[in-house]
Amino acid sequence: MFSRRLNIDVEPNELTLLYNAKKKYGERIYDLTSTNPTKLGFNYDTKQIVKHIIDERSLVYEPDPRGLISAREEIAVYYSEIGKYVQPDDIFVVPSTSEAYSYLFKLLLDADEEVLIPQPCYPLFEFLAKLDMCRVVYYPLVYDYRGGWTTDFIMLEKKITPKTKAILIINPNNPTGSYLKKEEYNKFITLADKYNLSLVVDEVFSDYEISAGETALKSTAGIESNITFILNGFSKMLGLPQMKFGWILIQGEEGKRREAIERLEVIADTYLSVATPVQYAAKMLFKTREKIQEEIKQRISENYNLLKTKFLLNPDVKVLNCEGGWSGILNYENLLIPEDEYVFKLLDTKNVLIHPGYYYDFFTEGYAVLSLLTRQEDMEEGLDRICG
Ligand SMILES: Cc1ncc(COP(=O)(O)O)c(C=O)c1O
Repeated sequence: MFSRRLNIDVEPNELTLLYNAKKKYGERIYDLTSTNPTKLGFNYDTKQIVKHIIDERSLVYEPDPRGLISAREEIAVYYSEIGKYVQPDDIFVVPSTSEAYSYLFKLLLDADEEVLIPQPCYPLFEFLAKLDMCRVVYYPLVYDYRGGWTTDFIMLEKKITPKTKAILIINPNNPTGSYLKKEEYNKFITLADKYNLSLVVDEVFSDYEISAGETALKSTAGIESNITFILNGFSKMLGLPQMKFGWILIQGEEGKRREAIERLEVIADTYLSVATPVQYAAKMLFKTREKIQEEIKQRISENYNLLKTKFLLNPDVKVLNCEGGWSGILNYENLLIPEDEYVFKLLDTKNVLIHPGYYYDFFTEGYAVLSLLTRQEDMEEGLDRICG
């Protein structure tokens, strides 16, 4: 009766069942996994946001498949602030980057065709691909305690088949926090040229650098390539996922870019998904960027330092290097305990919630992911309980 798209296991796992049961009985849980910035005690510019969120102009419906020109101009202003020059006409406003993926899968992939995605990564892309009847194929990121995370290009090239249509790069990746390096991006561009593939670069965490070094690319905007689709939005950039405002920036060789834009217009015109009020509010919302990012950056840096300090003298648990983004990673493979068991036991006996690495498709057991957005008092107490 139903489509194959939703043949996905959505049953809650044991960890979720335990969490829900503890919550039901009113137990205090140290949740070190939440990445919902609106519930983690940040000081948003509430007055300004509330004042501008509805504008009289919103009472007139003037649909444009690319989004209102005024909103696209503000996005171009953001790029100029980070030293990149882009054209508003190369931008499509979308409700979120998740929906941007859906537009791009429709644009680039037919049923059962493949998009290459990094492993480990955030568990979203497989669902998005399934909903569009296409497939993800993983390419590995490898970790070295001296050099951090890098892309394994030999394996990546081996994964390219006649069904491959695009390569997804997440810059910086979630949860590894690794930024794309200039040299790496050149290799991606070369591969994309060689196999006639599109590049999709997700830059939703790009403003949240902790320490990435000179060779890291903060944005791929403005760099020449065959064809690249750059994604970003207010969800992470301004810590406002509920505003539902994101975008796709199309870059690349003139003919290809033009054709991509024409085809994307058909998709966007079919849905016309983005609400008008948020598009008019975009100008003012962008103005909140500096202050909220300063607060979020301070939180993620302090939590990352706290993580490193707490496990500094622990021979069994290592903290992986994090260049940016909102996640921290623990490696406890020395403990030789299955991931499920370790994480379940922490919640069961110490009321601390962290995510097992397999949620993010790590290659081997022995990893856990924590949110660096966690309130500091919870992080401090949660880590003490893990260490204790
Ligand atoms: C790398 C990455 N891209 C995109 C998203 C989804 O963002 P949005 O709220 O814009 O759909 C997430 C969610 O956390 C993410 O981790």
